[in-house]
Amino acid sequence: MPAFTATAPAKIILFGEHAVVYGRPAIAVPIAALQARAIVRADVRASHGAVRLIAPAIGLDTQMDELAADHPLRRAVAITAETLHADYIPACQITIQSNIPVAAGMGSGAAVSVALIRALAAYLGHPLPAEKVSALAYEVEKIHHGNPSGVDNTVIALERAVYFVRGQLPRLISIELPFQLIIADSGIASPTAQVVSDVRAAWQKNRSDFEELFDRIANIVENARTLFEKSGKDEELTDYLTKLGGWMNENQILLAKLGVSCPELELLIERARFAGAYGAKLSGGGRGGNIIALVDEERQAAVIRALQEAGAQRVIATTIGGIG
Ligand code: PMV
Repeated sequence: MPAFTATAPAKIILFGEHAVVYGRPAIAVPIAALQARAIVRADVRASHGAVRLIAPAIGLDTQMDELAADHPLRRAVAITAETLHADYIPACQITIQSNIPVAAGMGSGAAVSVALIRALAAYLGHPLPAEKVSALAYEVEKIHHGNPSGVDNTVIALERAVYFVRGQLPRLISIELPFQLIIADSGIASPTAQVVSDVRAAWQKNRSDFEELFDRIANIVENARTLFEKSGKDEELTDYLTKLGGWMNENQILLAKLGVSCPELELLIERARFAGAYGAKLSGGGRGGNIIALVDEERQAAVIRALQEAGAQRVIATTIGGIG
């Protein structure tokens, strides 16, 4: 019996994190260089319906029934079987591998769910379309995040840049004019659910100021979407990068006002800008995880070096947009 393998990319949010929880738009892009992978293999020697889950990175090797009902992996398996009206799952082993850093704002939980749901649906004989995979992964995200906007599962399942508004169909964005980003990991694990819940508590105390900050973030997202959609290949690259970088810097100021930055992220951001980045901001839940810095060919090496010297745990250079 062949193995059924599926992958899902990491993601970063370019603009709009946190405000997106409150109905404002966000723009997120997949990062194919980092991936989660799920492999489902029939296990003819196992007893009827036995599902073994193996995730070496977290030291997990167990029968599914032994996990709590709300364990994200068990939930992803159960929800896929329910959706496909599979009364039982033919005995199998499910292996999860991922090189996406955990609790770093790169969507590792959503990517594992998407890969697992895809591989299991194929094993059960009913591959699911991306929209359905996204909807199922959203249900699992609720365990990780409490009150997720849905942006992570959407961009990861669709594997395309998206303009996302909670509760609406995502709009795919084509980024014609590619740009280079440096993603630098602060090494601080920061569970998104905690930061999202702290923002909610602060919003409850001071709704009008927070609503205004969310509106200002929404404005940046709209500007960026318009720029992405209008920019042709003949656009002056420096103008394009200067605009995008400026909006990243503005978005960062607003995120800091929401209370989701921290000194370690501010240091990385400052060093990246000082080394020549057009702009830099945190990406994802904040208080740890990653920053992103916008560069061009010429500035890339200096920014990478500056981030490494400032203590970034992992620095990745990636190209966003363009063909492919
Ligand atoms: O999973 P993270 O850390 O990239 O955060 C997701 C973005 C938030 O806007 C902070 C939360 C959400 O559900 O959209």
